[in-house]
Amino acid sequence: MFVVVWKVFVLLIISQVHSEPMKIKSYSEQNSCDIGKLADEIASYDKVVKDIIDYVVRGPFKWKTYDELAKFVDLFGARPSGSKVLEESIDYMIKLTREEGIEHIVTEDVEVPHWVRGTEKLTMVQPRIKDIALLGLGRSISTPPNGISAEVVVVHSFDELAKIPNKEVEGKIVLYDPKFTSYGETVIYRSQGAAKAAEKGAVASLVRSIAPFSINTPHTGSQNYDEKVKKIPTAAISLEDADLIRRIYNRKEKIVLNITMSSTYDTKVSRNTLIDLKGTNYPEQLVIVSGHIDSWDVGQGAMDDGGGLFVSWAAPVILKRLNLRPKRTLRSIFWTAEELGLVGAYAYEEKHRNENNKINFIMESDEGTFAPRGLEVAGTPKARCIVAEILKLFESVNATTLVESNSPGSDITVLIQKGIPGASLHNANERYFWFHHTEGDTMNVEDRDELDLCTAFWTAVAYIIADISADIPRY
Ligand SMILES: *[C@@H]1O[C@H](CO)[C@@H](O)[C@H](O)[C@H]1NC(C)=O
Ligand SMILES: *[C@@H]1O[C@H](CO)[C@@H](O)[C@H](O)[C@H]1NC(C)=O
Ligand SMILES: [Zn+2]
Repeated sequence: MFVVVWKVFVLLIISQVHSEPMKIKSYSEQNSCDIGKLADEIASYDKVVKDIIDYVVRGPFKWKTYDELAKFVDLFGARPSGSKVLEESIDYMIKLTREEGIEHIVTEDVEVPHWVRGTEKLTMVQPRIKDIALLGLGRSISTPPNGISAEVVVVHSFDELAKIPNKEVEGKIVLYDPKFTSYGETVIYRSQGAAKAAEKGAVASLVRSIAPFSINTPHTGSQNYDEKVKKIPTAAISLEDADLIRRIYNRKEKIVLNITMSSTYDTKVSRNTLIDLKGTNYPEQLVIVSGHIDSWDVGQGAMDDGGGLFVSWAAPVILKRLNLRPKRTLRSIFWTAEELGLVGAYAYEEKHRNENNKINFIMESDEGTFAPRGLEVAGTPKARCIVAEILKLFESVNATTLVESNSPGSDITVLIQKGIPGASLHNANERYFWFHHTEGDTMNVEDRDELDLCTAFWTAVAYIIADISADIPRY
């Protein structure tokens, strides 16, 4: 996941009336949803939902999502934007899908950033010698070959930095040590830190990894220079090392770091992949499920976003196997170059601008594929009421919760901003940011049974939305 504004309004109201047990009101009750006869129509999909869940959780598809994901990430590993391995992994997914007898597969070229990490080394040289784990941030420039050796200034926030006289920052390394509140709020220290430090005359910047938990693992991620300001090298360090430096700094001891980083940066051509299961009645109308196929260059990209990629791959595959053809076309998209700034999604929106009014609903899973809980939904109150009615069919997998969000997903926010209703997978992802953008993003994060529940849920929801008589209303 790139920069998701994590502004989620949980609409579940927990009402405690005296000694009665806690009752959770559903979205529909909370918002007096009345969608008329459509509610009965939606209820009639209960048999299809059960069939899909049985097929995935107990039937021939049991553990297939996990097994296919494992094969994929074990073969390719990390799939950074612009790399040859990313393109090979796209070819592999096309072949895997063709083997299922799905014919409508197209790829669309996209020019993407190609930033390649070289050697990186960070050593504390004062008050004592200690190696510090670091990960350069996306697009970071190199240091001179001999590195940069400078004193550190530690700040909690941009406000604190702004108050320090420039002459006390000039020639130094700024370490941002913000308190992690939410990803959406805290990530600005990663994405804008270098530009703001350079403005004050710093020669490099470091950021405490944007994460709530760490086992000495730095978390990389995208950052953007300000074109009007000098570019300086920038990297993330672990929570443990940020705390260490902070403690020494608070004791008013002088800290000197020596950083050496190298990288290259150009552009390459990659591809978005579009897989269509053509609708029986309205083939030009689209319901989209998606995940991004690129990853950071560390770990295996199994969680971010291998899981989302494979549940979205599975949806048309399962419907084809079960001979369930919805009335509208179900399109599965594997976005490219999400991590460097939703590059594939912007290209898709631009290329398809004339027909984006045919997208009825758009979904993306890019915040983990832990146990499903429901959906985070952007749309009008009526749109949310329809989705809430559909979610009622998922009690058996405990995925009935509708969370209101104005920007669910990552790539799909590009289309949601244009007024298209959409949703991301709401799941038990409390540990997502432990692993996000680290060497720890491997198959070990994924669970066979939880992936099955996500696959079944994702497939069945997409099928119903693509098949019901009513369109999901737009803004
Ligand atoms: C940084 O450390 C390396 C050895 O690891 C040394 O060769 C280099 O001169 C140092 N850089 C500076 C600017 O002091
Ligand atoms: C079901 O989901 C709710 C949140 O939506 C969660 O609090 C609860 O623990 C889940 N139950 C099970 C059995 O997983
Ligand atoms: Zn992602």
